[in-house]
Amino acid sequence: MSIIPFPGQKDPLRIGVLGSGSGSNMQSIQDAIEAGTLNAKIVCTIADVPNAKILDRAKKHNIPCAYLDPAPWKTKLEGDAETRYVEMLQKAGAQVIVLAGFMRIVKKRFLDAFPYRVLNIHPALLPAFPGVASWKQALDYGTKIAGVTVHFVDAGTDSGPIIVQRSVPVLDDDTPESLHARIQVQEHIAYPEAIRLLGAGRLRIEGRRVFQIPEA
Ligand code: GRF
Repeated sequence: MSIIPFPGQKDPLRIGVLGSGSGSNMQSIQDAIEAGTLNAKIVCTIADVPNAKILDRAKKHNIPCAYLDPAPWKTKLEGDAETRYVEMLQKAGAQVIVLAGFMRIVKKRFLDAFPYRVLNIHPALLPAFPGVASWKQALDYGTKIAGVTVHFVDAGTDSGPIIVQRSVPVLDDDTPESLHARIQVQEHIAYPEAIRLLGAGRLRIEGRRVFQIPEA
């Protein structure tokens, strides 16, 4: 069965962002919006870490934002915290949820609230190196190519259908930091691109495979 996860629309796509850290991916999305290359609006940014830099970036662009307590869980969003997050995103009218360095697993209730509307960016060429610090995993493993994946979020960890991937070389003198920095340059191209395709109704899912519908 084939699913078109988003019908496409003329109005700007309303995006909710969840993050835990620096927010450079949210910044790349906002930059694409301001440059007129992404027909979208970030309507809400939520951080699960107080004073995360992503909140400063949001404030600078007048994006409504908040720290929402994720307690009592350390690595997932569930229970009352999950409800608070879903309600805030729904109240803001978010149509698509973008996980941008959000260091928690989102669970069924969250996913059910936004079916095929939750995207994640992972700093590796999935299915290789899911989980944390995947650029370091790639370096330690000795791969010659690393990269980034934007995918739909499903109930697993970094396991949903892949929308966009971009690769980078691993250089002999790379450190974890230098490799991550090279991957991040590609992240900032890949995320706006994936959101653009979704918002334009140009993605079709068949099983695990996501196809791009040619521009009309
Ligand atoms: C990125 O490397 C992203 O792929 C991973 O977490 C990092 C977040 O970076 N999921 P930033 O907060 O967007 O700068």
